[in-house]
Amino acid sequence: MPITKAVVPVAGLGTRLLPATKSQPKEMLPVGRKPVVQYVVEEIEDAGLRSVLFITGRSKTAIEDHFDRDVELRRSLTTNGKHDLLDALAYEDANVEFFYTRQSEQLGLGHAVALGESYTEGQPFVIALGDSIIESQGTPSVLRRLIDAFEATGATAAIAFEEVPEDHVHRYGIAAPADGALPGVGDDVFRVADLIEKPSQAEAPSRLAISGRYVVSSAIFDALRKTGKGKGGEIQLTDAFRILLAEGHPIVGMRFRPGEKRHDIGNYGSYFRTFLHFALQDPDCGDGLRAAIREELGL
Ligand code: G1P
Repeated sequence: MPITKAVVPVAGLGTRLLPATKSQPKEMLPVGRKPVVQYVVEEIEDAGLRSVLFITGRSKTAIEDHFDRDVELRRSLTTNGKHDLLDALAYEDANVEFFYTRQSEQLGLGHAVALGESYTEGQPFVIALGDSIIESQGTPSVLRRLIDAFEATGATAAIAFEEVPEDHVHRYGIAAPADGALPGVGDDVFRVADLIEKPSQAEAPSRLAISGRYVVSSAIFDALRKTGKGKGGEIQLTDAFRILLAEGHPIVGMRFRPGEKRHDIGNYGSYFRTFLHFALQDPDCGDGLRAAIREELGL
């Protein structure tokens, strides 16, 4: 049976982005012309998935509004002949069905994912974090290759990893890769021996960081039930994968290829960079922005 469902956690408070996120979700912050979460949904649709469950929270209703078909706005744009603006709403026609449920308490990413149990109906599914944009180079995309790796290896989970600088390992879940190649898959897929959530540099077994994209079987839910509080006093998804590994479940990792990148909007430094990266690629405004930056910098 093909994988068709994605669980997209968007319940985080976004406190590192206050005051911008006081009354709007961080996932709705614009990156170029689109809110972050629209990139995530487009990535999911491009990978062939057809259904998304958002795990939302208070102050997140703007996400639901964004993906709702706004018939009145369309009618008014059509009446006024604003066809170029109608094009900007084409994403509303995505071949994806949306579902929403709430995480009422901030008990961690693992707790948020656990709320997807009845939605996923015992089938494997994708987890895509709603605050990260994954830029793929060409096709198949990172997410599509991750689904393929999950299916080809028969692993209980497949996780995408990006290599990060040593002084950033404390921000991520970090993998200890197992030795030896896996048969039947490309060099970028490896067996995961262990995972550790947000280690210090001394503790980190590698620089391979969990990048916010996972494919998992329903075994994750039993593991989440056994997962106690971890880093930050929260139920960590990484710790549930650790339980699966300890129980002998195979988990594979997939490295990004050259040119592939995770764009993070977790703090203002990375958000500004991400915005700039995508705004510079804008077909109408990119060149003008480049010139303006040169002027600002006195170049
Ligand atoms: C979460 C995960 C972490 C992962 C990161 C980026 O952390 O717990 O393992 O590396 O997302 O995908 P957060 O950024 O929510 O603190």
